Amino acid sequence: MILAIETSCDDTCAAVVEPDGRRALSNVVHTQTEHARYGGVVPEVASRAHLERLDGVVERSLSDANISLDEVSSVAVTTRPGLIGALLVGVAAAKGLAYARGLSLVPVNHLEGHVAAAYLADPELEPPFVALIASGGHTALYSVDADRKMHLLGETLDDAAGEALDKGARMLGLGFPGGPAISKAAREGDRDRYDFPVALKGRDDLNFSFSGLKTSLLYKLKAMDEEQVREELPHLAASYEAAVVEALSRKLLRAADLHDAPAVVVAGGVAANASLRSTLEAECAEAGTTLVVPPPDLCTDNAAMIGAAAPYSTVIAYPEYLSLNARSV
Ligand code: KG4
Ligand code: ZN
Repeated sequence: MILAIETSCDDTCAAVVEPDGRRALSNVVHTQTEHARYGGVVPEVASRAHLERLDGVVERSLSDANISLDEVSSVAVTTRPGLIGALLVGVAAAKGLAYARGLSLVPVNHLEGHVAAAYLADPELEPPFVALIASGGHTALYSVDADRKMHLLGETLDDAAGEALDKGARMLGLGFPGGPAISKAAREGDRDRYDFPVALKGRDDLNFSFSGLKTSLLYKLKAMDEEQVREELPHLAASYEAAVVEALSRKLLRAADLHDAPAVVVAGGVAANASLRSTLEAECAEAGTTLVVPPPDLCTDNAAMIGAAAPYSTVIAYPEYLSLNARSV
């Protein structure tokens, strides 16, 4: 079994995944609540919270999977990209566990992990496909070759999609994280009431830009008094969310078309968005493209996806990994 650890941001995660990376026996996520009052993740707070929680989360992942450490054959861990202090906690723990047991260690790229969540969602899935990663820190399109190599097709030129939702939510006085907060506020809203810009609409441009959207919201809010904002909140949230969804779905389908991809994969925290999921379901059905979107708990940060990426990552044999380091980018 693979024991996987993920601590790149504000979720302390451990999971047990079968050796072929296609089924998770457990997937434990402790979401740090310490950051909510700051309206964003505070790196040093995240590192300390990982340190306090990781042992318990790892133990729980083993007991949920009903196995002991004796049945673990390798330890997979996110080494990059992410908050450096947060990553270091996971990497040090993974090294310690692997070294103490004479196991191999598998460094995993967090973004490759997000894409690998699709293998858990659909164990029959094989590349080639086009993948969209939309999270709080990244928004990028990749083509994944038959040999599983990822090629960057386009990415955001400014804010990530999740970041745009988080910042928009803050401007609207909603909670953190902003994605779920905006969705909730948008439930009764009319998505066509406000016109928000969808940047870089050009046919073959596969990059994203979300900073204009944020500015547009700022100006709309400036022109309203408090009561108007309260009354219009569901419509503002719905229209803002719709602009993010349109940008993401438009570019993903464009990329699939340009690369003749038989399947598309959506991953990262924003893939948990219900409106994005239903929009893509309808559009992929129309285009005859297979759509794989992992369930929401595999879209947001988790360790099962890191275990799922492990079979396709380079294994470091015991004890060669002692000098292994984490990287923020
Ligand atoms: O992948 P993730 O958990 O962490 C990063 O690696 O960034 O993504 C977190 C992002 C946050 O910006 C959050 O607002 C967004 O994903 N998010 C959502 C939803 N759940 C989380 N965005 C839209 N709808 C959701 N349901
Ligand atoms: Zn992530």
